[in-house]
Amino acid sequence: MKIKNVKANEILDSRGIPTVSVEIELENGLKASASVPSGTSTGIHEALELRDGNKERFGGMGVTKACENIESIIGPKIKGMDVSDQVKVDETMIELDGPKNKEKLGANAILAVTISVLRAHSLVKNKELFQTIGDIYGFNNFSVPMPMAVIIEGGQHSDSNADIQEYMITINETNIRDNLNLIERIYTSLGEVLSGGGKSTNIGYEGAYGPSISSNREGLDLIMSAIDKSEISKNKVNLALDIASSEIYDKESQKYIMKGENIALNTDQMVSYLEELVRNYPIISIEDALFEDDWEGWQSLSEKLGSKIMLVGDDFFATNIERIRDGIDKKAANSVLIKPNQIGTVTETMEAIKMTKFAGWEPIVSHRSGETNDTFIADLAVAIGAKYIKTGAPVRGERVAKYNRLFEISEIMQKVKK
Ligand code: PGA
Ligand code: ZN
Repeated sequence: MKIKNVKANEILDSRGIPTVSVEIELENGLKASASVPSGTSTGIHEALELRDGNKERFGGMGVTKACENIESIIGPKIKGMDVSDQVKVDETMIELDGPKNKEKLGANAILAVTISVLRAHSLVKNKELFQTIGDIYGFNNFSVPMPMAVIIEGGQHSDSNADIQEYMITINETNIRDNLNLIERIYTSLGEVLSGGGKSTNIGYEGAYGPSISSNREGLDLIMSAIDKSEISKNKVNLALDIASSEIYDKESQKYIMKGENIALNTDQMVSYLEELVRNYPIISIEDALFEDDWEGWQSLSEKLGSKIMLVGDDFFATNIERIRDGIDKKAANSVLIKPNQIGTVTETMEAIKMTKFAGWEPIVSHRSGETNDTFIADLAVAIGAKYIKTGAPVRGERVAKYNRLFEISEIMQKVKK
């Protein structure tokens, strides 16, 4: 079925910042749309997110240029193409953009088109989105991921003074609803622990609490108390951290600055600091433990902790196949955060996933701090059989939209099994 029309629209994301939405119309009249997320603590190696820069509209964050690029440059090129030709549509956009990091058209423009094309194709085939992804890219081991659910947010994401951006919990019950049930209970207990201690229960961009804390250990201790209070067995709950280290690294002094604890650590000290946390808390994963260009630090951390926990590259890899390849060659991590908007097209995202899996590494599919109600990442995580998904606290519409889609998928998969 051929693509007949491509319409773009500027909408607002969950932070009130503009983002891109696209509607694709096919020759048979079917329509499909997609909208794209946006990060706050973005890495320097990510594909370019095109913003208008006109301060009089949304402080310069408008996306009318990206929308114009969709309607006047991408649209005319892909109209008439078969919607089942996902790879060709993506290659066409990559070519149109040129050699540089999506700088001409904007990764936000490209991502909205690539996902809406995929969704339109899925509608034509009358299949679920995760099945269509599987069909196109050769995946058939579908499974519903476990949430790595953030419950305390610091760094750039909330008013909290916490240096660590995300304190997450993971639970491995038999299904996604049971996982969310326990996650929600711990989240609620944490709220009670915080207000009981006179701390704020205001939430950050991803729905997690943003209390003021005096050290990273205090954040972890608050979570351990919340688990106690929830009366859920400690054995069931593991912790994961996203340090988002590029945000706390000071290039001049070459130190990681932990304001809460009033310490500045060089790479070796940071590695020891994290080893100590892992020794004392049930931490199974640390994301962006070191800043995005600290290759030697990543290698040394991997030597020390790589056999014990997941070491996840987010800003470090930027869902970029070349960086992931380097990481694998240099044994610099063992897991990759997958954020489609860091790279731009579905096809490039799938290449990054395939390379990650081929190395025996873990891909973790992730939302951004600025989200819409689009649930594409839920289907993506299922399609590739990802063990984990990061899609926020069990609150806020744009976060629970993804959890709700996982509930739906889990029921669809059960019916298929029967
Ligand atoms: P971001 O944060 O969307 O603000 O980049 C998410 C993350 O760092 O994982
Ligand atoms: Zn991150």
